[in-house]
Amino acid sequence: MATTETTEQAQRGSVAAEGAQTLSVTDNRTGKIYELEITDGTVRGMDLRQIKVADDDFGLMSYDPAFTNTASCRSAITFIDGERGILQHRGYPIEQLCEQSTYLEVAYLLTFGELPTQAQLERWVFDVTHHTFVHEDIKNLFETFRYDAHPMGMLLSGVGALSTFYPDAKHIDDPEERYMAAIRLIAKVPTLAAFAYRHSLGLPYVYPDNDLDYAENFLSMLFKKTELSYEPDPRLAKALDVLFILHADHEQNCSTNAVRGVGSSQVDPYSAVAAGVAALYGPLHGGANEAVLRMLRRIESADNVPDFLEQVKNREERLMGFGHRVYKNYDPRARIIKQYIDDVFEATEYNPLVEIAQELEKRALDDDYFTDRKLYPNVDFYSGIIYEALQIPTEMFTVIFAIPRTSGWVAQWMEMNDDSEQKIARPRQIYTGDRDRDYVPLDQRDGPEKITGPPARRPKRQRRGA
Ligand code: CMC
Repeated sequence: MATTETTEQAQRGSVAAEGAQTLSVTDNRTGKIYELEITDGTVRGMDLRQIKVADDDFGLMSYDPAFTNTASCRSAITFIDGERGILQHRGYPIEQLCEQSTYLEVAYLLTFGELPTQAQLERWVFDVTHHTFVHEDIKNLFETFRYDAHPMGMLLSGVGALSTFYPDAKHIDDPEERYMAAIRLIAKVPTLAAFAYRHSLGLPYVYPDNDLDYAENFLSMLFKKTELSYEPDPRLAKALDVLFILHADHEQNCSTNAVRGVGSSQVDPYSAVAAGVAALYGPLHGGANEAVLRMLRRIESADNVPDFLEQVKNREERLMGFGHRVYKNYDPRARIIKQYIDDVFEATEYNPLVEIAQELEKRALDDDYFTDRKLYPNVDFYSGIIYEALQIPTEMFTVIFAIPRTSGWVAQWMEMNDDSEQKIARPRQIYTGDRDRDYVPLDQRDGPEKITGPPARRPKRQRRGA
């Protein structure tokens, strides 16, 4: 970046680097003009720092709560074009991956950047399959939870606890340790998830079955009873595998940002991924499909859909499962899930909620209120209905989201660690509190007699995550 004293000089073409695209900024406090280099449609926040009113001034910062217009990294993992409804992993369209690939192959693709050869895939699948067991002490840990513990809280603890079982994972630059952490996380998260579910029912935990594939094994660990080996319906296993592919990664969302932020302290990957699980636990992130089901139940029948949509338009209700911060078109993941609904209902009991969902979608897509605002079904609109058809209770929905997202978190964690531009994440703040106050001894403090409680809650705004 170059600093110029006058507009005249700037007009003479004083630029950051020859041939570079630049942004001219005039600091009206000093009259100085600065030229900021534009790369990949961005300017660097640090380039603002030399904009000062005096030599001892800290320099200008940018203020961007919730990072709504700040790129925090360069990434080659997931591409999203929200306007056109495009999602690609490592350049491969999500539609092709769902149709031709498997979740474990996509996990490899995310982690290593390329589709595996036959031999690489065999080794990867073998390694994941042979690391699905967890130490018996993890089972004992889970047994200490209350009978009604939320499975997401149990998963969070379980993933965090894994770091104590694999202390060598702290050698984050050792390729072998990294590989083992990737394998163990992808392999063991379904086991922890299923144990959490069985715990809530008071049922004995089911150990992994190496003869089953990834999705089949998860269904077995959830539902196996007294049979010697569990045989899942292939239509259900396929639908679940596709749901896993669809949820594997979604670039810099809240939980991925948590994994990168915590991982930037160079903590071990289990602890970094536990941070991702914690972020996903929040209702603004992982919980929208649960809300869709509650909404469909409240509507009760397809006949009530027109009235419900009127309430949405009057802002008395929100159409859950519609709209997205990034997609301003049909969420490509919703389009894919929809194709599997019929297969799932062929293999399970018919769920009448699907009729309400279809009626809602038909009418909303025909209504200017929704199309003008670019509100289309998102991934959560149909996923909850499929989970429910699989007889998975609603509090498990977010846990199931965490299973495939683990591969995305691992891939993003690895990319962050290999990125020489990254360092420990440490945002700045605008300090708004008091300064330089003198300590007042306790017996000299004035104040109301009444003991003050916690600070008043700030007014509730409608805040939902994407
Ligand atoms: N129902 C009714 N109106 C809506 C909805 C909705 N679901 N979503 C947005 N709008 C309206 C909103 O009221 C606003 O209207 P106006 O301009 O007249 O005030 C307009 O559309 C733009 O909305 P916005 O709130 O500025 O959009 P946003 O990008 O901030 O919000 C969203 C995105 C996902 C938070 C929001 O669409 C929403 O709350 N959807 C329902 C919850 C949901 O399904 N969440 C899951 C998202 S997908 C999960 C994932 O990808 O991980």
